[in-house]
Amino acid sequence: MVKDTKYRIINISFQPEDSRRLHQLIETVNTSIAPEDLYLKIEADTLNVHLNKLDLEKFRGIIAPDSEEFLQMIIAEIEAIRSYGIKGKKRIYVDYNKERKVRNRKAKEENRGKYYYARGSSFSKENRKLPVAFLDQIFCGDSLEILQQLPNNCIDLVFTSPPYNFGLAYHEQQDEHFWEKYFQKLFAIFRECVRVLKFGGRIIVNIQPLFSDYIPTHHMISQFFIDEKMIWKGEILWEKNNYNCKYTAWGSWKSPASPYLKYTWEFLEIFCKGELKKPGGWENIDITDEEFKAWVVARWSIAPERKMKELGHPAMFPEELVRRVLKLFSYRNDVILDPFNGVGTTTVVARTLERRYLGIDISEKYCAVARERLKAAGQGEFPPKSE
Ligand SMILES: C[S@@+](CC[C@H](N)C(=O)[O-])C[C@H]1O[C@@H](n2cnc3c(N)ncnc32)[C@H](O)[C@@H]1O
Repeated sequence: MVKDTKYRIINISFQPEDSRRLHQLIETVNTSIAPEDLYLKIEADTLNVHLNKLDLEKFRGIIAPDSEEFLQMIIAEIEAIRSYGIKGKKRIYVDYNKERKVRNRKAKEENRGKYYYARGSSFSKENRKLPVAFLDQIFCGDSLEILQQLPNNCIDLVFTSPPYNFGLAYHEQQDEHFWEKYFQKLFAIFRECVRVLKFGGRIIVNIQPLFSDYIPTHHMISQFFIDEKMIWKGEILWEKNNYNCKYTAWGSWKSPASPYLKYTWEFLEIFCKGELKKPGGWENIDITDEEFKAWVVARWSIAPERKMKELGHPAMFPEELVRRVLKLFSYRNDVILDPFNGVGTTTVVARTLERRYLGIDISEKYCAVARERLKAAGQGEFPPKSE
């Protein structure tokens, strides 16, 4: 064996009658894979897999007709290891985070005052169930009034996109307020969202600032949550690749006087209540390795929704945006709230991904469309019939 290589050992027990077949498997594997990466060895009645690093695709390509079930067992054990580094095509299982380890990290974080602004919150840790009357429902009305009927700590994740105050042609709702009035109302609703959120829950808000009014809505909303002692977890840039916006106001063309900046993206601001970690069972994680690796890179290129005309709403989420948010930040069976649910994209995707939901919108027309979409998405076994 190669000197000085450290291995992670996986033990697989076997019956004496399998010994001959296993020796064949060992021969095949140990001649196909470099011993610095992985090798197999029998010790007493156990097959030991010595694992350092591995090109899993190459390993899956090994052919061992007589001992296929053992090979699959080894692959399943290796696949179940969730933390590893990546170098080229190989997963690194030993010392992969060694060089990034900072000594006394915890003490240093304490000294710096990691999320100091959220310290000393009075959030209760006692989480509750969302009352059945609100579970998997679309409510039509003012979110402020409806949220006031919910108990504290009963929602796992809020994902929403507030009305932008752009003067968009929403049904029934006049969307042009003076900014101060707009923020007053918005923050009253967001304060309720924080209250109904579970300890460990998340609020994710999609925001498109109105750059032409020089109102940095994404910063102002973030400051609101920081003042409420929520922990800022991060920010995702939703790159819409939308180059349709105007270039510059005539009069400032090709002049430093006041060039007009172009934005092809929107923001998703992510906040946590009480702590960064959200508890949940492994069996309720549904994100794949590939999705996880791609989506933790916090710039998501997703085209705007194409069905806005068809569904009669001017500012819908694309389903892909909601899918990524829910799979990356929530577990199956979590309760998802959208207090500005529009035609129901958040709730439809929540339903499809086996989450529970509550959607609220002030427009009867939008709520009716949301209910229709949910009916279409509602085939299958979920939620369980017993409930
Ligand atoms: C940006 S849209 C959300 C669209 C949604 N994400 C979708 O995919 O359909 C904002 C929504 O907030 C709703 N709204 C505005 N004020 C509200 C309030 N006070 N309570 C509930 N909904 C409200 C509007 O009717 C509008 O549908």
